Amino acid sequence: MGQRSDRQLDHCTRSIASADNQMAQKILLTGGAGYIGSHTYVALIEAGFEVVILDNFSNSNPSVLIRLGQITRQNQVICYEGSVLDKALLAQIFTEHDISAVIHFAALKAVGESVEQPLAYFSTNITGLLCLFETIKTAGIKHLVFSSSATVYGEPEEVPISETAPLQFTNPYGFTKVASEQILTQAAAADPWAFGVLRYFNPAGAHPSGLIGEDPFDIPNNLMPYIAKVASGALPHLNVFGNDYDTRDGTGERDYIHVCDLAQGHVLSLQKLLSTHEGHVVNLGTGQAYSVLEMNAAYGEAVGRDLPYVIAPRRPGDVPTCLADVRKAKKVLGFETQFGLADMCQSSWNWIETQAPS
Ligand code: WQD
Repeated sequence: MGQRSDRQLDHCTRSIASADNQMAQKILLTGGAGYIGSHTYVALIEAGFEVVILDNFSNSNPSVLIRLGQITRQNQVICYEGSVLDKALLAQIFTEHDISAVIHFAALKAVGESVEQPLAYFSTNITGLLCLFETIKTAGIKHLVFSSSATVYGEPEEVPISETAPLQFTNPYGFTKVASEQILTQAAAADPWAFGVLRYFNPAGAHPSGLIGEDPFDIPNNLMPYIAKVASGALPHLNVFGNDYDTRDGTGERDYIHVCDLAQGHVLSLQKLLSTHEGHVVNLGTGQAYSVLEMNAAYGEAVGRDLPYVIAPRRPGDVPTCLADVRKAKKVLGFETQFGLADMCQSSWNWIETQAPS
């Protein structure tokens, strides 16, 4: 056979790739256009899965789909716009696609907002899970990865926090996560389902391409996106919520995990379910905590200048330290984080600069 032109070779590569994809398992990502969902989309494609997104864009921007196509070099990113509460739409998705498993991100997740609007959180986070359950039961799906949170630990009695720590909630958002985990446990006892319950600590950072990242619609509740807006000049300074905690420097300490590490944790959880049908509940963190002032200083290093802050009163509901015991994720999933605080800050700033109007 003569030397193939680049185009032919490229076409050949694509056809082989598409042949592989025909054997690839297809995963439904609810909330897949969101911050963690979009990064998990990339990780799944890179792991050889096909992916379908369901998102109502209540906390994400449809433009992310174009950028996901750029990162994964796909001509088309399959996305259905709508809510997990829409059972007809869920049924349509499972009719039109041979879905092997689901990763369920779609939920409301702002602690303060949940105190003001508890019914909205019960509806989206709990009723939404039940609607999804009814659909996957009908479709015969047996595997689901669930997006949980360290919030289920409430104010921990000891740190690092292990998965055996008692579950408690201090706000409606935390209640919906504790309740959802209980629903999953009871359901798996009654039906041949296996669930991966992933308790995130504090996600931070962005994809190294700078094309996707945390893109809050309004003033951020969380620390790193708030610092990012200070660095970009959109906000005047950081308000440090209390400097009189029993911590290294008096400010709150958290276990920040790079969103790309978090995404990889979802791939490992899914592969574990599909290969062993063994359910699991694991923390996804780094086992290292940083204070508010340490985070602000690290971000300043990434930006190349000190970032202004003022000491403000404590935020109600905050705990002094939240830190993951990461041994079980390593043992059960072989999960180990690859990125550190500097990577989180640099990738976040790269995302901010990439999005800045030129
Ligand atoms: C981190 C630290 C604040 C903002 C929350 C949710 C949790 C999860 C992650 C969904 C704390 C301090 C923050 C600011 C500050 N989300 N801070 N000034 O509260 O640990 O966890 O997000 O699952 O459920 O509870 O994260 O980023 O809000 O705060 O001083 O403007 O930064 O006091 O010590 P948190 P956070």
